[in-house]
Amino acid sequence: MWTTVCRVDECPPGSGKEVVVGDRLVALFNVDGTFYALDGVCPHQGGPLAKGAVQGCIVTCPWHGWQFDVRTGEFQLRKALVQPTFEVRVEVEAVQVREAG
Ligand code: FES
Repeated sequence: MWTTVCRVDECPPGSGKEVVVGDRLVALFNVDGTFYALDGVCPHQGGPLAKGAVQGCIVTCPWHGWQFDVRTGEFQLRKALVQPTFEVRVEVEAVQVREAG
């Protein structure tokens, strides 16, 4: 099921936005016009990944600096730790995230 989470212009390139999809907090990111979505709750201590700085494809958790690739969810220090990702699509100007399950 696809959920509309915002308009394209509400999450400009190089930024992130916290959205809710079903009962999940999701971190939406725009990397050069392509959208990606991760589980928005950092696996370290629950920090808000959507509020982290984004450089290229890497987001840095604002609480203690854990870094994840927004395309794959991979934790940069230990790639076996993967933050869940969600499919994203753009329909006209609406950004939509696919609810897992
Ligand atoms: S809560 Fe994200 S790095 Fe600690």
